[in-house]
Amino acid sequence: MHTQVGIIGAGPAGLLLSHLLHLQGIDSIILESRSREEIEGTIRAGVLEQGTVDLLNATGVGARMMKEGHAHHGIELQFNGRRHRIDMHELTGGKKITVYAQHEVIKDLVAARLEAGAKIYFNVKDVSLHQIETSSPLIRFQLENGTDYEELNCDFIAGCDGFHGPSRQAIPANLRVEKQKIYPFGWLGILAKTPQVNPELIYSNHERGFALISTRSPEIQRHYIQVDPKDDITNWSDDRIWSELHARLDMDGWSILDGPIIQKNIVSMRSFVCETMHYGNLFLAGDAAHIVPPTGAKGLNLAAADVQVLARGLSEYYHSGEEDTLTRYSEICLRRIWKAQRFSYWMTTMLHRNFEHSSFEHNIQLAELDYVTSSQAAATSLAENYVGLPMEIQTNYSIRI
Ligand code: FAD
Ligand code: PHB
Repeated sequence: MHTQVGIIGAGPAGLLLSHLLHLQGIDSIILESRSREEIEGTIRAGVLEQGTVDLLNATGVGARMMKEGHAHHGIELQFNGRRHRIDMHELTGGKKITVYAQHEVIKDLVAARLEAGAKIYFNVKDVSLHQIETSSPLIRFQLENGTDYEELNCDFIAGCDGFHGPSRQAIPANLRVEKQKIYPFGWLGILAKTPQVNPELIYSNHERGFALISTRSPEIQRHYIQVDPKDDITNWSDDRIWSELHARLDMDGWSILDGPIIQKNIVSMRSFVCETMHYGNLFLAGDAAHIVPPTGAKGLNLAAADVQVLARGLSEYYHSGEEDTLTRYSEICLRRIWKAQRFSYWMTTMLHRNFEHSSFEHNIQLAELDYVTSSQAAATSLAENYVGLPMEIQTNYSIRI
């Protein structure tokens, strides 16, 4: 098998890259280790930045998002028993975020790719990368029901296989520059069949720990509570989850609404950057190269920003032999990534309760919240990061043949 760009992983990064390359007349094949049903059913992100929404719309895959997603003009920060609104729309000259589930974005992208005749191999096994430092790298793998190994020869490999995939590991360890921070926090996330209780997201700093009210539709809500990252979900009955949500969110005359919990799980939190995003003819994009704690809602959005740069670089390479953007891929992406890391770290440390901290550090945290909700300058900084910093690279996605 041969393709121009071999893509490992059908998450947001891999699918969007394949879609953008297609619009530039560049051929790609996607290899995915899970089934289509699994990738279309995994509950993760919900918040799309203005730039991600604009990109999906500009490239023809935004119709359902515009119909079923929900635009939010602000968020609320709750602490010391009071709630404060950050009017992102007003503070950013009219920008907003859209709440639309990641697995719906995945469904839209898979449908668009398959409709355009793309090859996506689901359920592949034992994927490995070879000759990545040469101009003819190859990916070896087994098909779903195969016992023989297939070889996908390509000009470039895009490692879009998330944090645990094989692509990053294919770069020699002594040449990889990696930086990370592990937090003593986990998020227990639920999907519940309850009516929406607030028109906007609520981020709550509470002495019992952080809590977040989000939504998916008027009937389905997405909520999170801070837990020990080593805790087991079996320790959390539905009653215990609701009582913790009430304790951390209810205020005089206002209460969240309980209902059947249809999904629950715990994720741990880390900040991680592999600065070596480009090695030979391998390019890493999305969670394969970086992880942010979800408090800033940046992971999927960063993946979209990476592949926009990569698609532009590959387009220039194939259409004019120009390699400048590809050569500067890591440098261009890392400027945005580190700013998203800074914001995600800041939101996480401001909003979570660190039970190792002294009362001095706790008061500093409350002062930070007081400042960000009372100073227009500080609120503007939060708002412009939350809706998404501008892309450094703009591409015209008219179809090139
Ligand atoms: P992934 O989505 O991890 O996709 C990688 C794909 O590669 C997977 O389908 C995987 O099966 C496949 N793969 C792995 N190994 C192999 C292999 N060996 N061979 C072939 N395929 C392989 N981000 C936001 O922007 N906004 C939010 O609101 C937000 N909320 C979040 C809430 C939670 C609870 C969590 C956990 C994350 C959240 N994120 C959010 C982050 C976001 O979900 C991720 O950053 C995003 O999924 C990254 O996309 P990706 O394509 O890089 O990686
Ligand atoms: C979500 O709706 O899943 C969500 C919202 C805000 C975040 C993270 C996740 O910061």
